[in-house]
Amino acid sequence: MPSQLLRTKSIDKLLAEAEEPERRLRKSLGPWSLTALGIGAIIGAGIFVLTGTAAAGEVLEVHSIMKAPLLSVLLHGQHALGTAGRPGAGPAIALSFFLVAVACAFAGLCYAELASMIPIAGSAYTYTYATLGEIVAWIIGWDLILEYAVSNMAVAVGYSAYFDSLLQTFGIKLPQKFMEPILNSSLHPTGAYFNLPGFVVVMILTIILVIGIRESAGANNIMVGIKLVAIVVFVFGAASYIHPVHWKPFMPNGWQGVLTGGAIVFFTYIGFDSVSTAAEETKNPQKDVPFGIIASLIVCTVLYCTVALVLTGIQPWQSLRNAAPVANALHAIGLDTLERWVTLGALTGMLSSLLVFQLGQARVWFAMSRDGLLPEVFSRVHRRFRTPHVSTWVAGFFVAIPAGVFDIGTLADLSNIGTLFAFLLVSLGVLVLRRRQPERPRGFRVPWVPVLPILSVICCLVLMTSLPLETWLRFFVWLIIGLTIYFLYSRRHSEFARDAQPAAEAAGSRTPHDGAGK
Ligand code: ALA
Repeated sequence: MPSQLLRTKSIDKLLAEAEEPERRLRKSLGPWSLTALGIGAIIGAGIFVLTGTAAAGEVLEVHSIMKAPLLSVLLHGQHALGTAGRPGAGPAIALSFFLVAVACAFAGLCYAELASMIPIAGSAYTYTYATLGEIVAWIIGWDLILEYAVSNMAVAVGYSAYFDSLLQTFGIKLPQKFMEPILNSSLHPTGAYFNLPGFVVVMILTIILVIGIRESAGANNIMVGIKLVAIVVFVFGAASYIHPVHWKPFMPNGWQGVLTGGAIVFFTYIGFDSVSTAAEETKNPQKDVPFGIIASLIVCTVLYCTVALVLTGIQPWQSLRNAAPVANALHAIGLDTLERWVTLGALTGMLSSLLVFQLGQARVWFAMSRDGLLPEVFSRVHRRFRTPHVSTWVAGFFVAIPAGVFDIGTLADLSNIGTLFAFLLVSLGVLVLRRRQPERPRGFRVPWVPVLPILSVICCLVLMTSLPLETWLRFFVWLIIGLTIYFLYSRRHSEFARDAQPAAEAAGSRTPHDGAGK
């Protein structure tokens, strides 16, 4: 049995399977559509919501060691309570954005190399199946579902709040009982019935995704264009209101603030990896996927650093701790018309982020099912639309219902830890595959191996330890649930388990370590 857990899938087999007619996805995406897909996923609610918290810091409502960053807990134990909460980065949040972008670029290059070798739906899940073995692949697939699902629940809830505030600027007030989550972050009833806009927006996007990837990419391109314009309008509209005095001191809480801010705003970069989930639907994945990943990362880094500098330049960083820091800062300096436009852009940004994450999530369900780790029904492709419709519907309800029920804004950290863990495994995957399959063609090669993948692993670990202890515990609970499903269902249904039986009968005592994927 241990041999099955560690067996790797042959890359040639992965490529052949993806070509099976009844499971083949339509190939319609080019480099610019992929870049737009990446930007669409990356810029979502985070830049409009989390920049404020990361700059101003978090005040603890509950004085608990659980809320302290893991590193403080490890270094200071109970004394971490003294420094608990999260120190803000202050104006240096722009520096946090830049450093996190560098860390993401390391991981992004690793993603690009693997994506250019293995252009198959499923992203890090597929890569680890081909490199680190079935059990690690299951963990990462399960982890990716967490990343995409939880961040989209958070974005859907954020969408609802911004939607409400936009309507209010036009004097329209909808019944609050249908605009808010049923439960608050302590799981106590809020008195509301359901967060309807959060639910509805996810279900509408699900229908778009079922109808087709080309149509989805077209809608996404328009939304990406609108949100880019809104961000540029914010930067140029507010730039003349900057008072450099707000930037002093630049790092009020030193490097600890910069790092903690980085661990929070890491959320804003989540999404570029989802470019690789669309590799199977790309016309020329060897070139287009690396291009899409790197290009979208560069565009977003420039935008984020600029927004961070402008935001902390127009208002004191201490005043940014609120749910809509960008809109509120504009309101505070009297730019109400600009505020309305930026809110509209923020809503559009969230829409395209939701769209790409739903797409990525469905493809992880799809890929895991194709490998037998989840029931076969998830990998069915719609006859007419050629999309994985069942997994798209499942992903839709899986996100939309909790988005209507829970206050999950605080779970962005959970999404961060899952993503960082995926990045870590992908970086290790590059190292493993360079050793095991040095001769296999790579459309893109990470420079300075092994230094760069190792740097990527270190960056992921630093950011992970800057997250609170409770996030680590929630993450472990999620993994334990996943491992339980694996051992109760997936292990028996995996293709290896199915293939192994007849092969073993035919070959007698043949070793199971048959070199697949080696
Ligand atoms: N990066 C996405 C966002 O900021 C998840 O909303």
